[in-house]
Amino acid sequence: MAGAPSATAYQKRRRQLMRMAGDDAILVLPAAPERIRSRDTHHPYRQDSDLWYRTGFAEPEAVLVLVPGRQHGETLLFCRERDPEREAWDGPRVGPEGAVDALGMDDAYPIDDLDEILPGLLEGRTRVYYHFGRDTEFDLQLIGWLNRVRAQVRLGAQPPHEFLELGHLLDEMRLIKTADELKLMRRAARISVEAHAAAMRAARPGVREYELQAELEYVFRRHDAAPAYESIVGAGANACVLHYRANAAQARDGDLVLIDAGAEYRGYAADITRTFPVNGRFTAEQRALHAVVESAQQAALAQARPGVPYEAGHSAAVEALTDGLLRLGLLKGRLEKRIADGSYKRYYPHKTGHWLGLDVHDVGDYRIEGESRLLEPGMVYTIEPGLYVPADDTSVDAKWRGIGIRTEDDVLVTRTGHEVLTAGLARTADEIEAFMAR
Ligand code: GLY
Ligand code: MN
Ligand code: MN
Repeated sequence: MAGAPSATAYQKRRRQLMRMAGDDAILVLPAAPERIRSRDTHHPYRQDSDLWYRTGFAEPEAVLVLVPGRQHGETLLFCRERDPEREAWDGPRVGPEGAVDALGMDDAYPIDDLDEILPGLLEGRTRVYYHFGRDTEFDLQLIGWLNRVRAQVRLGAQPPHEFLELGHLLDEMRLIKTADELKLMRRAARISVEAHAAAMRAARPGVREYELQAELEYVFRRHDAAPAYESIVGAGANACVLHYRANAAQARDGDLVLIDAGAEYRGYAADITRTFPVNGRFTAEQRALHAVVESAQQAALAQARPGVPYEAGHSAAVEALTDGLLRLGLLKGRLEKRIADGSYKRYYPHKTGHWLGLDVHDVGDYRIEGESRLLEPGMVYTIEPGLYVPADDTSVDAKWRGIGIRTEDDVLVTRTGHEVLTAGLARTADEIEAFMAR
């Protein structure tokens, strides 16, 4: 598959995980379950990120079992068997033989044999690593297999007696992106930049939010990508609804449009927000607030380098936003006080970003032993400050009401500083106006 890591790269990830787990452990990673949309129609299938990260295997009804140090094979995949009749309806399957040949598994079995084989694999292992609580149906199956081993104790069976959260091992690996992954993330970022540019170009007074969404998602699909999350297209005061999803209103002359959308490419997400005037020209008030958000983004970006606490970016953004709100008269008083009492949260209720990767809100701890963790090369996160003045906020001059602005970019921490993966898209008010005038 274009740009995808090789079978050897996945093998390396599995081996690394097994080393971390130790020889007396067993790791169980089921595929994401299929979800019904209505009757016999399914939601688009998306593989579980952890299974995908270690196999590149896209099919449902599969379980990866890692048994470090096992003589007869350490990496086992249970998956659907080939079935010409079903494949004629649903498309090709890899099948157990293919899983060994193409995916580099030591062994593979039909998924229907899981019930028979798994208790034997659990027996004699001390520790089970598994994501408890992610898929209740599978949780119950696993408990059933454990109970089958426990029932054999008098015959000498040794059931596992430690149950550990798989995320502890997996998440730290996924947090630091490899060169293979960064290739895909750059691609997701490039596609998303092109999509946002297409939406900006298509903007005109009277356009419906869904028309702009269509422009974006057309570009995603044209590049073999899909939305990494539901695209948010909010005109006017809809921009103040953080998880707006109706995307059906009409943008009127003078409105800003906030678009928060990103492509998922080969499982990797981009996450971009831009806020632009539908008629191509910012009003004085829109421009002033946009500049405050821009200053917050620059302040956060200045903290994006190895050794700096992750939280420093948010603190810098909050300071810049609060300072701007005071200067424009939306808040009153002294900067330190308004930061300390959290009054800025009325206009900035969210955090300044999150890890980004296979999941748009990617895995990885933000704090370690109570302290903000330090940035390291290979981490990717978003910087997304915003300001949202509710349409009914009578505490501020009417001219500010109903303006919502967010600017969001994707940032890779490098050895010497950072790289903005989404830098190709107009960002400041001047850049946006110049781009839209073309
Ligand atoms: N699009 C989701 C987020 O910005 O976090
Ligand atoms: Mn985000
Ligand atoms: Mn976003």
